[in-house]
Amino acid sequence: MKLHPVEVLGREEHGRHVLLRYRWTGEAPRPGQFVMARPQNHAGLDPFLPRPLFAHDHEGETVSLLFEVRGRGTALLAGEDAGLLVSAPLGRGFGTEGSGPVALIGGGVWVSPLKLLSRRLKGSGVGHDVYLEVPEGAPEAYAEFLRTRYESAALIETGGASDPPRAVLDRVGELSGYATLYVSGTAETLQAAKHAAEGVVSAQLALRERMACANGSCYGCAVPVWEAGEKTYRRACVEGPVFRAEALAW
Ligand SMILES: Cc1cc2nc3c(=O)[nH]c(=O)nc-3n(C[C@H](O)[C@H](O)[C@H](O)COP(=O)(O)OP(=O)(O)OC[C@H]3O[C@@H](n4cnc5c(N)ncnc54)[C@H](O)[C@@H]3O)c2cc1C
Ligand code: FES
Repeated sequence: MKLHPVEVLGREEHGRHVLLRYRWTGEAPRPGQFVMARPQNHAGLDPFLPRPLFAHDHEGETVSLLFEVRGRGTALLAGEDAGLLVSAPLGRGFGTEGSGPVALIGGGVWVSPLKLLSRRLKGSGVGHDVYLEVPEGAPEAYAEFLRTRYESAALIETGGASDPPRAVLDRVGELSGYATLYVSGTAETLQAAKHAAEGVVSAQLALRERMACANGSCYGCAVPVWEAGEKTYRRACVEGPVFRAEALAW
């Protein structure tokens, strides 16, 4: 995988999240595609591998990433003086061929790919509603970020809820009123959305399987899927990370 040095245009901190913007004149990312990213001037071997991050937004020559600082890789990417190496957009993103209305659902703090999806749907005139969870313990700065950057989104505070994914889906309401559900979220949110959508509405789920090579050669990101009634495996980095809910053999 080729990594390109890019000009970092800005970094903003919102609680434990960082919004990182960089100049990109290559192929435009499609919603649900991801990039592999690593700091440019990091000489050490820890972390050895670049990290996968969804394209959060893209406008003109600016791409942004929105990530939670979780470990060493994301902490280094968040560093003020870190240059940035990124791959071209990778993987298969959301399919957006159909008509609306559609629902965009972000569970936990994993909302990143929904911003670009919302922008593209708006551009093509597809009506959509956005539902984003503000989970228990999320910093106020993160909630404020969602309020200001996703102006028309319904924010669902799930602190105290016994079943947060259920609380989010309850807020979405009658699923059959939508042509498609587009879901990004925790494993629990994805599971709950898959089961709620079964036989009711088509759903596309953005997975976050851990990745190593991100080019299809290591099979480290394989996910179980149904094909012609048989259970088999597909690689999230090249055949995903977005999958149709009914194809996933969970
Ligand atoms: C296709 C794809 C897109 C992604 N997009 C985003 C994004 O837009 N924003 C964002 O914040 N994160 C995203 N992630 C997750 C992100 O890649 C990881 O959080 C990051 O690699 C962690 O690296 P680290 O070195 O900081 O932490 P590590 O030291 O590697 O891990 C820190 C902690 O995070 C856990 N962790 C690491 N990777 C994952 C994962 N994939 N899922 C769940 N837990 C994990 C580890 O088990 C550990 O507990 C995405 C992952 C994939 C596969
Ligand atoms: S990460 Fe290696 S095959 Fe997907």
